[in-house]
Amino acid sequence: MAKAKVKFVCSACGYETGKWLGKCPSCGEFATFVEEAVADDKSRFKSPVADESKGAARPLILRDIKDLDANRIKTGIAELDRVLSGGLVCGSFTLVGGDPGIGKSTLLTQLCKPIGSEGRKILYVSGEESASQVKLRADRLQIDTDNLYVLSETGLGLIEAAVKDIMPELVIIDSIQTMYTDEVTSAPGSVSQVRECGYRLLRLAKQNGITVIIVGHVTKEGQLAGPRVLEHMVDTVLYFEGDKNFSGRVLRCVKNRFGSTNEIGIFEMTGLGLKEVLNPSEYLLSGRPSGVSGSAVTCCMEGTRPMLLEVQALASYTSFGMPRRMAAGTDFNRVIMLLAVLEKRAGISMGNMDIYVNITGGIRVSEPSLDAAVLAAVASSCKNAVINPDIVIIGEVGLTGELRGVNMCEKRISESAKMGFKTIVIPSANRKEVPKGINARVLACENINGLLNIILNYK
Ligand code: TYD
Ligand code: MG
Repeated sequence: MAKAKVKFVCSACGYETGKWLGKCPSCGEFATFVEEAVADDKSRFKSPVADESKGAARPLILRDIKDLDANRIKTGIAELDRVLSGGLVCGSFTLVGGDPGIGKSTLLTQLCKPIGSEGRKILYVSGEESASQVKLRADRLQIDTDNLYVLSETGLGLIEAAVKDIMPELVIIDSIQTMYTDEVTSAPGSVSQVRECGYRLLRLAKQNGITVIIVGHVTKEGQLAGPRVLEHMVDTVLYFEGDKNFSGRVLRCVKNRFGSTNEIGIFEMTGLGLKEVLNPSEYLLSGRPSGVSGSAVTCCMEGTRPMLLEVQALASYTSFGMPRRMAAGTDFNRVIMLLAVLEKRAGISMGNMDIYVNITGGIRVSEPSLDAAVLAAVASSCKNAVINPDIVIIGEVGLTGELRGVNMCEKRISESAKMGFKTIVIPSANRKEVPKGINARVLACENINGLLNIILNYK
């Protein structure tokens, strides 16, 4: 076969050259050139002419178009179905991203059990592991379906042939960075390879109505390795995140053409694979210390689900000239702002203290309703006063020290009461949202001084 011709294209402005350049002569950006295959085969990019026999290109009346929801494959993993707004859409193209070792292969292997047992054929293509390694994992996860085919291959042509041969309903590609096609000369994992492979898999999915899930690695900067164009190409982008030192894992949807992107799924990594966490509040609050200062509980919303979590703060006298500030699991700048509000509006001086703030459980939240709890935890640690463990603190804090209303307060209050908390502090603006007949005392506060008064003196 003749060597495929390549060209280099600036990914910022689209300028094309025959050789790689460090700086784009057109837009002046540096290191933006990516290699691209020049399509020799004219038919490949030819716009299709209307084919009466297939009837593909005919416009349809909106009412007559088939409803996608009817064609969802339930994955059988409730947390995953929740993130996917009800299951995998048939013929969709999904990208699952995440740090190495976070559990992407585990999740996708586990998925094969319920889907396979429904009689759907699955092809699991692993470019990273041998077939026996995949089997080892499947055995560990107790997958015993006859409908799972495993292929250890990285050449896309062979994978396409295998797909046409088996005609599975679901194809899992683990991972896109290991796949290559002869049409592009660069190494697997390079921008142009990833893009070309992604494009060919997309065609495979859409032309044959096969559901394709691809795994993508994440770069050090936290972005999906390979071009962003991959994210534009797919229907759904899921991120699997979590701290490897914690067993909790969060599956987050960042793009979804078939539903909302608000929902998250929570899993726990165990010796027998990923386990769904059906009650995240209980999971996140387990192991909460008692009788110590610097711990506050709040209720966040993740999509439509309320979730109780613990905010911890530690204030200690600094031994250096520059006091340190650190925030783990939440927005650093927001914490700095809250410290300033606390200093100015409540007169708690922290100029000679190191302040550390942490959301326990290794998860990340950046919802404004967390503010009041962060502030309370810091104040509690500064004053060395224990916050009553039966209090939940909800509210956003403004720059003048006012407690601002939060959305879906009713759900948050109900969840807190359900988890057995006796007192719930909310912003005054949400006073009307207290559900009837709950078994907890709800206290409304105007500003942070009211809040501190309640939590630091409440026995
Ligand atoms: P893996 O799914 O291979 O991660 P990824 O594909 O995202 O790179 O799994 C990563 C880790 O999960 C691995 O370090 C071992 C651990 N693990 C368990 O703790 N229990 C299990 O049952 C399995 C299969 C893996
Ligand atoms: Mg893997």
